[in-house]
Order: sequence, then structure tokens, then C-alpha cells
Amino acid sequence: MQGVRPAPGVRRASTTPPCRTRSHFRQTVNDVLEHKGREVLTIDPDATVFEAIDAMAGRDIGALVVMEGARLVGLMTEREYARQVALAGRTSRDTRVRDVMLPDPPTITPDQAIDQAMRLMTNRRVRHLPVVDGPELVGLVSIGDIVAAIIGEQRTVIEHLEHYIAG
Ligand SMILES: NC(=O)c1ccc[n+]([C@@H]2O[C@H](COP(=O)([O-])OP(=O)(O)OC[C@H]3O[C@@H](n4cnc5c(N)ncnc54)[C@H](O)[C@@H]3O)[C@@H](O)[C@H]2O)c1
Repeated sequence: MQGVRPAPGVRRASTTPPCRTRSHFRQTVNDVLEHKGREVLTIDPDATVFEAIDAMAGRDIGALVVMEGARLVGLMTEREYARQVALAGRTSRDTRVRDVMLPDPPTITPDQAIDQAMRLMTNRRVRHLPVVDGPELVGLVSIGDIVAAIIGEQRTVIEHLEHYIAG
């Protein structure tokens, strides 16, 4: 299979300006990566869409980071497949990832808070964020990772408040 592999340290094409609004959450994107791991599954832009969806199905994930050499150039997701291939009447074996991927996707940095990740996903309508530290790709977080982290932190706060009220 062409180009589906865990990513080593990489360079990206450009950087998304980090969202620096104040956070009420203690956990950062780095805390989420500590929990879920730092492996990132990537694919070459010249791979076929069939190879991409086969890799996603094989790993039970919904996205692949598209790497052109050491540059992060896009995101290939189930949404791109549904809209740009299936609905557009293309065939997955004859279509290249580069022709249907989300180009130059938003990214986040490890030090940003989990609600900043959620806000970025909501504003940019994406469910996956590559995590970059300077020029390096250091992980990927999905909406499920962030929702789980937010629910976990809120549960802890509620337990503390209940304990406080009960004396
Ligand atoms: N309970 C949890 O902690 C948790 C975490 C994540 C997802 N989920 C559930 O799984 C289902 C699907 O999750 P989703 O919509 O967030 O996305 P998803 O199916 O794409 O992601 C599933 C997991 O794979 C990881 N992943 C996805 N693409 C990756 C890639 N290219 N490289 C490395 N890791 C990658 C994600 O970070 C996430 O941990 C949902 O029902 C969600 O609630 C649960």
C-alpha cells in the first residue's frame, strides 16, 4: 500500500494561527496525547482514495494526515470521501488523494487547552486536528478524544463540588 505509515517528525506547509482565547479547562492537547498516544497515520497525496479508505477501515479511524515528503499538505477524511468521491461520481481506485483531500487543514499545538481544540473544530467544521510543535507533527486529536477529555474534566469538577456541598 502506497504511503500509509506512521509519521516521523515532519515539516508542514504552513501554520494555522493558534487560538489563544482564555480557557477554563486545565487539560491541554498534550494531556490528551499522553492518554491516546502520539502515533499519526499518514498517506501520500499520490496514493489512491481506495488505499486511503482501506487504511482507514483497517485501523478503524476516520482520517489520515496527507504528507508530501516532510510537508503536511492535507487531511483525507471520510467526509472528503463521501462528498468528493461517492457523491461526485468519481471512483476510489481512479482518484488520487491530492484531488479530494482537505488542503492546508487547521492544526493545533500541544500547549493549547482542550476547549480551544473544540472551538477550532467547531469553527472550521473539522473532526480531526493534526498536532504540530514548531515544524514537527507530534500527534492527532479527534473530536471523540476532545469530547472524552472535556467530559472527564467536568465530571471531576462536579465530584469536587458535590463533596464540598455535602461537607
Ligand atoms: N472514549 C474515548 O476516549 C473516545 C476517544 C475517541 C473516539 N471515541 C469514539 O469513537 C468514535 C469515532 O471517533 P471520532 O469520530 O472521534 O474519530 P475517529 O474514528 O477518526 O478516531 C478514533 C481514534 O483514532 C484516532 N485517530 C484517528 N485518525 C488518526 C490518525 N490519522 N492518526 C492517529 N490517530 C488517529 C483518534 O485520535 C481517536 O483516538 C466516536 O463514537 C467516539 O465517541 C471515544
